[in-house]
Amino acid sequence: MTSYQFPQDFWWGTATSSYQIEGAVKEGGRKPSVWDTFSTIPGRILNNDTGAVACNHFHRYQDDVKLMANLGIKHYRFSIAWPRIIPEGRGTVNEAGVDFYKRLVDCLQEHGITPHATLFHWDSPQLLEDLYGSWQSRQMAIDYADYVTAVVSRLGDRITHWMTLNEISCFTHYSYGVDSDPIHAPGTRVNSLKEIWQTSHHALLAHGLGCQAIRAVSPVPCSVSLVDNFSVTVPINESPDHIEAAQNAFHSYGQNGGIIFPALTGAYSPILLEQLGENAPDIQEGDLDIIHQPLDSFGFNVYSGKYVRAAENKLGYEILYFPEGYPKMYMPWLYIVPDAIYWGIRHLSETLGRSDLPVIITENGCATPDELNAKGEVIDTDRILYLRYYLQSAHRSITEGYPLKGYFLWSFLDNFEWAYGYDRRFGIVYVDYSNQKRIPKASFDWYRECIRQNRVV
Ligand code: FCB
Repeated sequence: MTSYQFPQDFWWGTATSSYQIEGAVKEGGRKPSVWDTFSTIPGRILNNDTGAVACNHFHRYQDDVKLMANLGIKHYRFSIAWPRIIPEGRGTVNEAGVDFYKRLVDCLQEHGITPHATLFHWDSPQLLEDLYGSWQSRQMAIDYADYVTAVVSRLGDRITHWMTLNEISCFTHYSYGVDSDPIHAPGTRVNSLKEIWQTSHHALLAHGLGCQAIRAVSPVPCSVSLVDNFSVTVPINESPDHIEAAQNAFHSYGQNGGIIFPALTGAYSPILLEQLGENAPDIQEGDLDIIHQPLDSFGFNVYSGKYVRAAENKLGYEILYFPEGYPKMYMPWLYIVPDAIYWGIRHLSETLGRSDLPVIITENGCATPDELNAKGEVIDTDRILYLRYYLQSAHRSITEGYPLKGYFLWSFLDNFEWAYGYDRRFGIVYVDYSNQKRIPKASFDWYRECIRQNRVV
Protein backbone atom coordinates (compact mmCIF):
# COMPACT_ATOMS: atom_id res chain seq x y z
CA MET A 1 0.00 0.00 0.00
CA THR A 2 1.25 3.50 -0.82
CA SER A 3 1.53 5.65 2.26
CA TYR A 4 -0.01 9.06 2.92
CA GLN A 5 -2.41 8.74 0.00
CA PHE A 6 -5.09 11.48 -0.16
CA PRO A 7 -8.69 11.03 -1.35
CA GLN A 8 -9.18 11.25 -5.13
CA ASP A 9 -11.16 14.49 -4.94
CA PHE A 10 -8.73 16.28 -2.59
CA TRP A 11 -8.00 19.89 -3.64
CA TRP A 12 -4.35 20.76 -4.08
CA GLY A 13 -3.73 24.48 -4.42
CA THR A 14 -1.63 27.50 -3.62
CA ALA A 15 -2.57 30.86 -2.09
CA THR A 16 -1.60 34.53 -2.47
CA SER A 17 -3.16 37.92 -1.69
CA SER A 18 -3.61 41.12 -3.67
CA TYR A 19 -1.42 43.63 -1.83
CA GLN A 20 1.35 41.09 -1.40
CA ILE A 21 1.78 40.31 -5.12
CA GLU A 22 -0.08 42.68 -7.46
CA GLY A 23 1.93 45.91 -7.40
CA ALA A 24 0.56 48.48 -9.91
CA VAL A 25 -0.92 50.36 -6.99
CA LYS A 26 -1.66 53.46 -9.03
CA GLU A 27 -2.90 51.70 -12.15
CA GLY A 28 -6.33 50.80 -13.47
CA GLY A 29 -8.09 53.37 -11.30
CA ARG A 30 -6.92 51.92 -7.97
CA LYS A 31 -6.59 54.30 -5.03
CA PRO A 32 -4.49 53.76 -1.88
CA SER A 33 -5.23 51.13 0.71
CA VAL A 34 -4.23 51.47 4.36
CA TRP A 35 -1.19 49.32 3.56
CA ASP A 36 0.04 51.79 0.92
CA THR A 37 -0.06 54.53 3.53
CA PHE A 38 1.31 52.47 6.41
CA SER A 39 4.23 51.05 4.45
CA THR A 40 5.47 54.52 3.54
CA ILE A 41 5.83 55.52 7.21
CA PRO A 42 9.57 55.21 7.84
CA GLY A 43 10.47 52.34 10.15
CA ARG A 44 7.16 50.49 10.04
CA ILE A 45 8.28 47.89 7.48
CA LEU A 46 11.62 46.09 7.49
CA ASN A 47 13.98 47.90 5.05
CA ASN A 48 11.13 50.38 4.44
CA ASP A 49 9.75 48.09 1.72
CA THR A 50 6.30 48.76 0.26
CA GLY A 51 3.90 46.79 -1.95
CA ALA A 52 4.08 49.39 -4.75
CA VAL A 53 5.67 46.94 -7.19
CA ALA A 54 5.66 43.63 -5.28
CA CYS A 55 5.71 40.75 -7.83
CA ASN A 56 4.12 42.94 -10.49
CA HIS A 57 1.53 40.18 -10.82
CA PHE A 58 -0.95 42.78 -12.14
CA HIS A 59 1.05 42.73 -15.38
CA ARG A 60 2.59 39.28 -15.20
CA TYR A 61 -0.46 37.24 -14.21
CA GLN A 62 -0.53 35.26 -17.48
CA ASP A 63 2.96 33.87 -17.00
CA ASP A 64 2.23 33.24 -13.33
CA VAL A 65 -0.87 31.24 -14.19
CA LYS A 66 1.13 29.20 -16.73
CA LEU A 67 3.58 28.36 -13.97
CA MET A 68 0.68 27.28 -11.73
CA ALA A 69 -0.56 24.98 -14.48
CA ASN A 70 2.95 23.57 -14.71
CA LEU A 71 2.84 22.88 -10.97
CA GLY A 72 -0.33 20.88 -11.53
CA ILE A 73 -2.63 22.71 -9.12
CA LYS A 74 -6.31 22.68 -9.92
CA HIS A 75 -7.21 25.30 -7.28
CA TYR A 76 -5.86 28.78 -6.64
CA ARG A 77 -6.73 31.15 -3.81
CA PHE A 78 -6.15 34.86 -4.41
CA SER A 79 -7.73 38.01 -3.04
CA ILE A 80 -9.60 40.89 -4.59
CA ALA A 81 -8.45 44.40 -3.68
CA TRP A 82 -11.32 46.56 -2.43
CA PRO A 83 -9.52 49.77 -3.54
CA ARG A 84 -9.38 48.45 -7.12
CA ILE A 85 -13.11 47.77 -7.19
CA ILE A 86 -14.40 50.76 -5.20
CA PRO A 87 -11.37 53.07 -4.99
CA GLU A 88 -13.02 55.47 -2.54
CA GLY A 89 -14.27 52.64 -0.34
CA ARG A 90 -17.92 53.43 -0.97
CA GLY A 91 -19.84 54.69 -3.99
CA THR A 92 -18.71 54.40 -7.58
CA VAL A 93 -17.51 51.03 -8.89
CA ASN A 94 -14.34 51.13 -10.99
CA GLU A 95 -15.08 48.74 -13.86
CA ALA A 96 -11.42 48.77 -14.94
CA GLY A 97 -10.55 47.18 -11.58
CA VAL A 98 -13.21 44.52 -12.04
CA ASP A 99 -11.82 43.81 -15.52
CA PHE A 100 -8.42 42.87 -14.12
CA TYR A 101 -10.00 40.08 -12.06
CA LYS A 102 -12.13 38.99 -15.04
CA ARG A 103 -8.94 38.59 -17.07
CA LEU A 104 -7.18 36.73 -14.25
CA VAL A 105 -10.10 34.35 -13.66
CA ASP A 106 -10.58 33.67 -17.38
CA CYS A 107 -6.89 32.86 -17.65
CA LEU A 108 -7.09 30.49 -14.65
CA GLN A 109 -10.07 28.73 -16.15
CA GLU A 110 -8.35 28.36 -19.53
CA HIS A 111 -5.68 26.45 -17.62
CA GLY A 112 -8.17 24.26 -15.78
CA ILE A 113 -7.65 26.02 -12.43
CA THR A 114 -10.64 26.78 -10.20
CA PRO A 115 -10.56 30.28 -8.68
CA HIS A 116 -11.16 30.74 -4.93
CA ALA A 117 -11.51 34.43 -4.14
CA THR A 118 -10.93 36.05 -0.77
CA LEU A 119 -12.92 39.27 -0.69
CA PHE A 120 -10.75 40.96 1.90
CA HIS A 121 -7.13 40.29 2.72
CA TRP A 122 -6.36 43.46 4.74
CA ASP A 123 -6.01 46.10 2.00
CA SER A 124 -8.95 48.31 2.93
CA PRO A 125 -9.45 51.69 1.24
CA GLN A 126 -7.48 54.51 2.85
CA LEU A 127 -10.41 56.87 2.28
CA LEU A 128 -12.52 54.91 4.77
CA GLU A 129 -9.71 55.22 7.29
CA ASP A 130 -9.76 58.99 6.74
CA LEU A 131 -13.54 59.11 6.90
CA TYR A 132 -14.28 57.08 10.01
CA GLY A 133 -11.24 55.10 11.16
CA SER A 134 -11.90 51.84 9.25
CA TRP A 135 -12.78 48.95 11.57
CA GLN A 136 -13.31 51.27 14.53
CA SER A 137 -16.66 52.08 12.99
CA ARG A 138 -19.67 49.82 12.53
CA GLN A 139 -20.17 51.56 9.19
CA MET A 140 -17.19 49.58 7.85
CA ALA A 141 -19.29 46.39 7.92
CA ILE A 142 -22.02 48.04 5.89
CA ASP A 143 -19.61 49.47 3.32
CA TYR A 144 -17.88 46.09 3.10
CA ALA A 145 -21.20 44.38 2.31
CA ASP A 146 -21.86 46.92 -0.48
CA TYR A 147 -18.40 46.21 -1.87
CA VAL A 148 -19.14 42.47 -1.75
CA THR A 149 -22.39 43.04 -3.63
CA ALA A 150 -20.49 44.98 -6.29
CA VAL A 151 -17.93 42.19 -6.72
CA VAL A 152 -20.21 39.16 -6.64
CA SER A 153 -22.80 40.70 -8.97
CA ARG A 154 -20.03 41.27 -11.53
CA LEU A 155 -17.80 38.21 -11.04
CA GLY A 156 -20.32 35.67 -9.71
CA ASP A 157 -20.70 34.12 -13.15
CA ARG A 158 -17.00 33.20 -13.10
CA ILE A 159 -16.25 32.60 -9.42
CA THR A 160 -18.24 30.22 -7.22
CA HIS A 161 -15.89 29.83 -4.24
CA TRP A 162 -15.96 32.90 -2.00
CA MET A 163 -14.14 33.65 1.22
CA THR A 164 -15.34 36.71 3.13
CA LEU A 165 -12.41 37.88 5.28
CA ASN A 166 -8.88 36.68 5.92
CA GLU A 167 -7.74 36.33 9.55
CA ILE A 168 -9.88 38.82 11.45
CA SER A 169 -7.46 39.09 14.37
CA CYS A 170 -4.63 40.23 12.06
CA PHE A 171 -6.41 43.33 10.75
CA THR A 172 -8.03 44.19 14.09
CA HIS A 173 -6.05 42.98 17.13
CA TYR A 174 -2.72 43.53 15.33
CA SER A 175 -3.78 46.76 13.65
CA TYR A 176 -5.06 48.63 16.71
CA GLY A 177 -3.08 48.76 19.94
CA VAL A 178 -3.27 50.28 23.40
CA ASP A 179 0.25 50.22 24.85
CA SER A 180 2.39 49.74 21.78
CA ASP A 181 2.41 50.59 18.10
CA PRO A 182 0.48 47.94 16.20
CA ILE A 183 2.48 46.06 13.57
CA HIS A 184 -0.25 46.09 10.90
CA ALA A 185 -2.03 48.88 9.03
CA PRO A 186 -3.62 51.25 9.81
CA GLY A 187 -1.50 51.00 12.98
CA THR A 188 -3.81 53.04 15.19
CA ARG A 189 -3.42 53.59 18.94
CA VAL A 190 -6.70 53.29 20.85
CA ASN A 191 -7.55 53.84 24.51
CA SER A 192 -8.69 50.44 25.70
CA LEU A 193 -8.77 46.74 24.99
CA LYS A 194 -12.52 47.11 24.64
CA GLU A 195 -12.00 49.31 21.57
CA ILE A 196 -9.85 46.60 20.03
CA TRP A 197 -12.49 43.94 20.64
CA GLN A 198 -14.99 46.34 19.10
CA THR A 199 -12.96 46.37 15.86
CA SER A 200 -13.06 42.57 15.62
CA HIS A 201 -16.77 42.64 16.42
CA HIS A 202 -17.28 44.99 13.47
CA ALA A 203 -15.26 42.62 11.30
CA LEU A 204 -17.49 39.72 12.37
CA LEU A 205 -20.51 41.79 11.36
CA ALA A 206 -18.84 42.42 8.00
CA HIS A 207 -18.41 38.67 7.60
CA GLY A 208 -22.09 38.05 8.36
CA LEU A 209 -23.40 40.83 6.12
CA GLY A 210 -20.91 39.74 3.45
CA CYS A 211 -22.26 36.15 3.50
CA GLN A 212 -25.81 37.48 3.10
CA ALA A 213 -24.71 39.72 0.22
CA ILE A 214 -22.95 36.87 -1.61
CA ARG A 215 -25.97 34.59 -1.37
CA ALA A 216 -28.33 37.40 -2.39
CA VAL A 217 -26.54 38.35 -5.60
CA SER A 218 -24.63 35.28 -6.80
CA PRO A 219 -26.22 34.29 -10.12
CA VAL A 220 -25.39 30.61 -9.51
CA PRO A 221 -25.13 28.37 -6.42
CA CYS A 222 -21.83 29.10 -4.72
CA SER A 223 -19.82 28.18 -1.68
CA VAL A 224 -19.07 30.65 1.12
CA SER A 225 -16.40 30.41 3.81
CA LEU A 226 -14.62 32.39 6.47
CA VAL A 227 -10.84 32.14 6.67
CA ASP A 228 -9.25 32.28 10.09
CA ASN A 229 -5.94 31.54 11.77
CA PHE A 230 -7.37 30.61 15.15
CA SER A 231 -4.84 29.61 17.80
CA VAL A 232 -4.28 25.87 18.02
CA THR A 233 -3.73 24.34 21.42
CA VAL A 234 -1.89 21.03 21.18
CA PRO A 235 -1.74 18.55 24.07
CA ILE A 236 1.83 17.88 25.19
CA ASN A 237 0.98 14.24 24.75
CA GLU A 238 -2.25 12.52 23.86
CA SER A 239 -3.28 11.32 27.29
CA PRO A 240 -6.93 12.01 28.23
CA ASP A 241 -6.01 14.66 30.81
CA HIS A 242 -3.75 16.63 28.47
CA ILE A 243 -6.32 16.39 25.66
CA GLU A 244 -8.94 17.80 28.00
CA ALA A 245 -6.51 20.58 28.98
CA ALA A 246 -5.96 21.51 25.32
CA GLN A 247 -9.72 21.57 24.75
CA ASN A 248 -10.31 23.81 27.75
CA ALA A 249 -7.50 26.15 26.79
CA PHE A 250 -8.88 26.43 23.26
CA HIS A 251 -11.86 28.54 24.43
CA SER A 252 -9.93 31.61 25.41
CA TYR A 253 -6.46 31.20 23.97
CA GLY A 254 -5.51 33.95 21.48
CA GLN A 255 -8.68 35.51 20.09
CA ASN A 256 -10.48 32.17 19.61
CA GLY A 257 -13.35 32.85 22.01
CA GLY A 258 -14.22 36.16 20.33
CA ILE A 259 -13.75 35.25 16.68
CA ILE A 260 -14.34 31.64 15.63
CA PHE A 261 -16.66 30.98 18.57
CA PRO A 262 -19.21 33.63 17.52
CA ALA A 263 -18.70 32.93 13.80
CA LEU A 264 -19.15 29.16 14.09
CA THR A 265 -21.37 28.74 17.15
CA GLY A 266 -23.33 32.00 17.37
CA ALA A 267 -21.96 33.05 20.77
CA TYR A 268 -18.80 34.53 22.21
CA SER A 269 -17.15 32.04 24.54
CA PRO A 270 -18.54 32.72 28.06
CA ILE A 271 -15.08 31.93 29.43
CA LEU A 272 -13.54 34.68 27.31
CA LEU A 273 -16.30 37.18 28.17
CA GLU A 274 -15.70 36.56 31.85
CA GLN A 275 -11.97 37.10 31.41
CA LEU A 276 -12.56 40.31 29.44
CA GLY A 277 -15.01 41.81 31.91
CA GLU A 278 -15.51 45.49 31.05
CA ASN A 279 -13.26 45.09 28.00
CA ALA A 280 -15.83 42.91 26.21
CA PRO A 281 -17.22 44.55 23.07
CA ASP A 282 -20.71 46.06 22.89
CA ILE A 283 -22.94 43.58 21.12
CA GLN A 284 -26.22 44.91 19.77
CA GLU A 285 -29.41 42.88 19.61
CA GLY A 286 -29.41 40.69 16.50
CA ASP A 287 -25.64 40.96 15.93
CA LEU A 288 -24.94 37.34 16.77
CA ASP A 289 -27.57 36.15 14.31
CA ILE A 290 -25.94 38.23 11.57
CA ILE A 291 -22.50 36.89 12.48
CA HIS A 292 -23.52 33.24 12.73
CA GLN A 293 -24.24 32.58 9.05
CA PRO A 294 -24.51 29.15 7.47
CA LEU A 295 -21.18 28.36 5.80
CA ASP A 296 -20.23 25.80 3.16
CA SER A 297 -16.73 25.32 4.49
CA PHE A 298 -14.21 26.81 6.87
CA GLY A 299 -10.80 28.07 5.75
CA PHE A 300 -8.09 27.22 8.25
CA ASN A 301 -4.77 29.08 8.02
CA VAL A 302 -2.19 27.18 10.03
CA TYR A 303 1.49 27.77 10.62
CA SER A 304 2.21 26.89 14.24
CA GLY A 305 0.57 25.86 17.50
CA LYS A 306 0.96 26.05 21.26
CA TYR A 307 1.56 23.12 23.61
CA VAL A 308 -0.68 22.76 26.63
CA ARG A 309 -0.65 20.40 29.60
CA ALA A 310 -3.03 19.56 32.42
CA ALA A 311 -2.27 21.41 35.65
CA GLU A 312 -3.62 21.60 39.14
CA ASN A 313 -4.56 25.26 39.04
CA LYS A 314 -7.85 27.15 38.76
CA LEU A 315 -7.98 26.73 34.99
CA GLY A 316 -6.95 23.07 34.98
CA TYR A 317 -4.35 23.69 32.28
CA GLU A 318 -1.11 25.45 31.60
CA ILE A 319 0.09 26.99 28.33
CA LEU A 320 3.69 25.95 27.71
CA TYR A 321 6.41 28.20 26.40
CA PHE A 322 8.82 26.92 23.77
CA PRO A 323 12.25 26.00 25.12
CA GLU A 324 15.24 27.91 23.76
CA GLY A 325 16.29 25.09 21.44
CA TYR A 326 12.86 24.40 19.93
CA PRO A 327 13.11 24.31 16.10
CA LYS A 328 11.57 27.11 14.13
CA MET A 329 11.50 28.45 10.62
CA TYR A 330 12.59 31.93 9.51
CA MET A 331 10.05 33.99 11.48
CA PRO A 332 10.10 34.73 15.21
CA TRP A 333 6.75 32.99 15.72
CA LEU A 334 7.15 30.09 13.32
CA TYR A 335 7.81 27.19 15.69
CA ILE A 336 7.46 23.87 13.91
CA VAL A 337 4.34 22.22 15.30
CA PRO A 338 3.03 19.90 12.57
CA ASP A 339 0.35 18.50 14.91
CA ALA A 340 -1.30 21.93 14.82
CA ILE A 341 -3.03 20.86 11.60
CA TYR A 342 -4.51 17.73 13.11
CA TRP A 343 -5.43 19.38 16.41
CA GLY A 344 -6.87 22.49 14.77
CA ILE A 345 -9.20 20.36 12.68
CA ARG A 346 -10.08 18.15 15.64
CA HIS A 347 -10.89 21.21 17.78
CA LEU A 348 -13.26 22.51 15.09
CA SER A 349 -15.07 19.17 15.17
CA GLU A 350 -14.94 18.32 18.87
CA THR A 351 -14.34 21.47 20.88
CA LEU A 352 -16.58 23.66 18.72
CA GLY A 353 -18.96 20.85 17.74
CA ARG A 354 -18.77 21.69 14.02
CA SER A 355 -17.91 18.26 12.60
CA ASP A 356 -20.52 19.04 9.92
CA LEU A 357 -18.36 21.80 8.42
CA PRO A 358 -15.89 20.82 5.68
CA VAL A 359 -12.43 22.26 6.36
CA ILE A 360 -10.00 23.61 3.79
CA ILE A 361 -6.46 24.46 4.79
CA THR A 362 -6.39 27.85 3.09
CA GLU A 363 -2.79 28.63 4.10
CA ASN A 364 0.17 26.61 5.29
CA GLY A 365 3.82 27.22 4.57
CA CYS A 366 6.95 28.82 5.94
CA ALA A 367 9.66 31.40 5.40
CA THR A 368 13.23 30.20 4.89
CA PRO A 369 16.40 32.21 4.23
CA ASP A 370 16.44 31.17 0.56
CA GLU A 371 19.43 31.98 -1.62
CA LEU A 372 20.32 31.25 -5.21
CA ASN A 373 23.22 28.81 -5.47
CA ALA A 374 25.98 29.00 -8.09
CA LYS A 375 23.75 27.19 -10.57
CA GLY A 376 20.98 29.72 -10.00
CA GLU A 377 18.80 27.26 -8.07
CA VAL A 378 17.11 27.44 -4.66
CA ILE A 379 17.44 24.11 -2.85
CA ASP A 380 15.01 24.71 0.03
CA THR A 381 15.11 21.31 1.69
CA ASP A 382 14.25 23.13 4.95
CA ARG A 383 10.88 24.17 3.48
CA ILE A 384 10.28 20.65 2.15
CA LEU A 385 10.91 19.20 5.61
CA TYR A 386 8.41 21.60 7.18
CA LEU A 387 5.73 21.01 4.54
CA ARG A 388 6.13 17.24 4.57
CA TYR A 389 5.53 17.01 8.32
CA TYR A 390 2.50 19.30 8.13
CA LEU A 391 0.95 17.36 5.25
CA GLN A 392 1.42 14.12 7.16
CA SER A 393 -0.56 15.67 10.00
CA ALA A 394 -3.25 16.76 7.52
CA HIS A 395 -3.37 13.19 6.29
CA ARG A 396 -3.84 11.90 9.82
CA SER A 397 -6.95 14.03 10.24
CA ILE A 398 -8.49 12.51 7.10
CA THR A 399 -7.58 8.99 8.23
CA GLU A 400 -9.43 9.61 11.49
CA GLY A 401 -12.53 10.79 9.64
CA TYR A 402 -12.31 14.57 10.09
CA PRO A 403 -13.72 16.52 7.13
CA LEU A 404 -10.58 17.99 5.52
CA LYS A 405 -11.16 18.62 1.80
CA GLY A 406 -8.23 20.64 0.49
CA TYR A 407 -4.86 22.26 1.03
CA PHE A 408 -3.58 25.60 -0.28
CA LEU A 409 0.14 26.10 0.17
CA TRP A 410 1.22 29.62 1.21
CA SER A 411 2.63 30.82 -0.99
CA PHE A 412 2.89 30.37 -4.71
CA LEU A 413 5.41 33.23 -5.01
CA ASP A 414 7.77 35.02 -2.66
CA ASN A 415 5.98 38.28 -1.88
CA PHE A 416 5.56 41.34 0.33
CA GLU A 417 5.39 39.77 3.79
CA TRP A 418 3.69 42.72 5.58
CA ALA A 419 5.89 44.14 8.37
CA TYR A 420 8.80 41.99 7.13
CA GLY A 421 8.69 43.34 3.58
CA TYR A 422 10.58 41.28 0.99
CA ASP A 423 13.06 39.95 3.51
CA ARG A 424 11.02 36.85 4.39
CA ARG A 425 10.31 34.52 1.49
CA PHE A 426 7.33 32.16 1.76
CA GLY A 427 7.11 31.13 -1.91
CA ILE A 428 7.76 27.83 -3.62
CA VAL A 429 8.74 30.08 -6.53
CA TYR A 430 11.67 32.43 -5.91
CA VAL A 431 11.20 35.99 -7.13
CA ASP A 432 14.28 37.94 -8.14
CA TYR A 433 12.95 41.41 -7.38
CA SER A 434 15.68 43.08 -9.46
CA ASN A 435 14.22 41.74 -12.71
CA GLN A 436 10.97 39.98 -11.63
CA LYS A 437 12.32 36.63 -12.76
CA ARG A 438 10.48 33.60 -11.35
CA ILE A 439 12.67 30.65 -10.32
CA PRO A 440 10.83 27.54 -9.08
CA LYS A 441 12.50 26.21 -5.92
CA ALA A 442 13.17 22.56 -5.03
CA SER A 443 9.95 22.71 -2.96
CA PHE A 444 8.04 23.47 -6.20
CA ASP A 445 9.22 20.16 -7.68
CA TRP A 446 8.47 18.36 -4.43
CA TYR A 447 4.92 19.78 -4.27
CA ARG A 448 4.32 18.95 -7.94
CA GLU A 449 5.24 15.34 -7.20
CA CYS A 450 2.86 15.25 -4.21
CA ILE A 451 0.08 16.50 -6.46
CA ARG A 452 0.97 14.07 -9.25
CA GLN A 453 0.96 11.07 -6.89
CA ASN A 454 -1.85 12.49 -4.73
CA ARG A 455 0.11 11.76 -1.57
CA VAL A 456 2.92 13.08 0.60
CA VAL A 457 6.19 12.15 -1.07
C1 FCB B 1 -0.82 34.94 7.17
C2 FCB B 1 -1.37 35.90 6.13
C3 FCB B 1 -0.64 35.86 4.83
C4 FCB B 1 0.85 35.69 5.00
C5 FCB B 1 1.15 34.53 5.93
C6 FCB B 1 2.61 34.26 6.13
O1 FCB B 1 -1.10 35.41 8.43
O2 FCB B 1 -2.72 35.63 5.88
O3 FCB B 1 -0.97 37.03 4.11
O4 FCB B 1 1.42 36.86 5.42
O5 FCB B 1 0.56 34.75 7.17
